[in-house]
Amino acid sequence: MPGGIYVDATFGGGGHSRLILEKLGGKGHLYAFDQDEDAKRNTEQQPFSANPSFTFVHSNFRHLKRQLRAEVVRPGTVNGILADLGVSSYQFDTPERGFSYRFEAALDMRMNTQDGQTAADVLNEYDADELQRVFSELGEVRNSKTLAQAAVRLREQKPFRTTGDLLELCGKNLMGERMRYLSQVFQALRMEVNDELGALEDLLKEAYEMLAPGGRLAIITFHSLEDRMVKHFLKTGNVAGEQEKDFYGNITRPFELVTKKPIEPSDEEISQNPRARSAKLRVGQKLEN
Ligand SMILES: C[S@@+](CC[C@H](N)C(=O)[O-])C[C@H]1O[C@@H](n2cnc3c(N)ncnc32)[C@H](O)[C@@H]1O
Repeated sequence: MPGGIYVDATFGGGGHSRLILEKLGGKGHLYAFDQDEDAKRNTEQQPFSANPSFTFVHSNFRHLKRQLRAEVVRPGTVNGILADLGVSSYQFDTPERGFSYRFEAALDMRMNTQDGQTAADVLNEYDADELQRVFSELGEVRNSKTLAQAAVRLREQKPFRTTGDLLELCGKNLMGERMRYLSQVFQALRMEVNDELGALEDLLKEAYEMLAPGGRLAIITFHSLEDRMVKHFLKTGNVAGEQEKDFYGNITRPFELVTKKPIEPSDEEISQNPRARSAKLRVGQKLEN
């Protein structure tokens, strides 16, 4: 909607923001969030640089409400909020960020490199039960208990420092197809390091408050747990999917579902961009309550 207020919660390389600005046609405003300092550099090009319709917010999107208020955007006034979760190709393909098993690098995996624990900290400090939870819940790793216990034994000889140390652990405990196994373990650690499920829950709640009635929330997920959280939230207003009732006992519905089923990439899109293969887009329109 030209003249509207929009939020791109995950700026990354700015692909989505660019398209939103085109649609805005010089009217309205786009606020783009990213917690990664490197993403900010992408705002130095056109159409972002010195664009009065564009503001970059270097912050975790879980602080959406506070950050937008600081920009004098009031709750209940935003027309659309989009999030494209996970890491960007840039982050994934930059060896020193430690997101990928393809490169030897420090085991970092933080999207915001100025804050929080690294993947090495998680592997060196969590106890075996906590590590098992990470591998099993976030990575669906089949032998999560064995892997967690092996990690605790290995770090007694030598603390985890690099992706190579993690590959050594995985190599000794591998189950099934190698690349799939490594992807699951690396993804689990990345999601834990960045508290991705916690941040998503906060974003969903704050997005609802910030949206105007009729405003739309669009979320692209790459993980089944995230997709379930979004699906539940759009139906019930909470990520557990528990039906909520108003004062009179009527079930409250926060959103009209714009997509009854998630939108998934076509075969053609997957062949052009294989990383999109597990993407699911869900969209809801905030109802007047
Ligand atoms: C998949 S990429 C987005 C790509 C973007 N849609 C584009 O068109 O280039 C995800 C981006 O979101 C950022 N991100 C992920 N979780 C975040 C969070 N909780 N707060 C702020 N930024 C986050 C990452 O740093 C990354 O740059």
